[in-house]
Amino acid sequence: MKTKIYITAMLLYLTNIAITPAQTLSHKGLKDYYKNYFPVGVAVNLAALSDTAERNLICNQFNSITPENAMKMGPIHPEENRYYWRDADSIVAFAQTHHIRIRGHNLCWHNQVPNWIFYDGNKKLVTKEILLKRLKDHINTVVGRYKGKIYAWDVVNEAVSDDSTQLLRNSLWYKICGEDFIFKAFEYAHEADPNAILFYNDYNTERPGKRERVYRLLKKLIDARVPVNAVGLQAHWSLNEPTVLELTRAIEEYASLGLKIQITELDISVYPNENGNRALKDAENTAFTPERAKKQAEQYTRVFEIFRKYRKYITGVTFWNLSDKYSWLDNFPVRDRKNYPLLFDQSLQPKQAFWDVVKF
Ligand code: GLA
Repeated sequence: MKTKIYITAMLLYLTNIAITPAQTLSHKGLKDYYKNYFPVGVAVNLAALSDTAERNLICNQFNSITPENAMKMGPIHPEENRYYWRDADSIVAFAQTHHIRIRGHNLCWHNQVPNWIFYDGNKKLVTKEILLKRLKDHINTVVGRYKGKIYAWDVVNEAVSDDSTQLLRNSLWYKICGEDFIFKAFEYAHEADPNAILFYNDYNTERPGKRERVYRLLKKLIDARVPVNAVGLQAHWSLNEPTVLELTRAIEEYASLGLKIQITELDISVYPNENGNRALKDAENTAFTPERAKKQAEQYTRVFEIFRKYRKYITGVTFWNLSDKYSWLDNFPVRDRKNYPLLFDQSLQPKQAFWDVVKF
């Protein structure tokens, strides 16, 4: 009898040893490796949520999500008196069911914005007063609907100009309101949900010229006591950018303003940045070669080392899309050119870059 119990116990013990490492590996996701650092998030759309394998990958790997498009002004508020909630609501419900936090994206942007907001019934541009009133209604309604469910909002997206001779982008928001639309957007968002963490979000925030302009805008907002809490570095990067120096300098400068930082839209294109001229050179060569895989893994390793080093300031890292099966970069800046910018391949399997990012 005793021998039998002993043998059973031994067997159980051995089985456990044999099983544990493999199980731990497959059940451990990015969110677990990084649990002492920051939440790791992913941008999602309804297509990803309706695919079982993708849904499982999201739940295993991530503890934050950002709706890729569903909360942008165009999709969610297509007409003045009509909101379209279905997609956004489904994403929020999914996240809540799985205890995943949600970043709201975004409240005021020059793209994916409905035309009606800028024009009156006679197709003339509206006054500043009317535009701000419409912005306020929009922010109140959207932020109000998800109050307590969405912990952070990208309030203003990409308002800073790429042109070094001007601080702000010459969008219709700017043409009609001057810089006030930025100040007001943050005030309205804060009124609608005083507990939400409010972000200014932009791209190329590590490139010296843009970095200085983003810094100037943020400083202006802070000096005017605008309720901005954090800055989002979109991080649409490539194999050769940003450099370690550029990234650390950007983080240190934004943090010196007392702001928290999140990496909000991370992907690393396998096509080197050549100031928008990458099309012709790479048009025929679109394979995910071992060389590209290696360089991409190295770039991911470098930037995650920096994220870990600055965890005091970095409160989240979000990938822009789940796997190489689908990325907005498949059509940008070149239409129909496949890209491989994420940590999971087209079959949802971890790439070399994944293993390098979790090895520390
Ligand atoms: C910007 C926006 C995102 C997304 C990407 C491209 O970075 O902030 O919402 O549209 O462009 O997909």
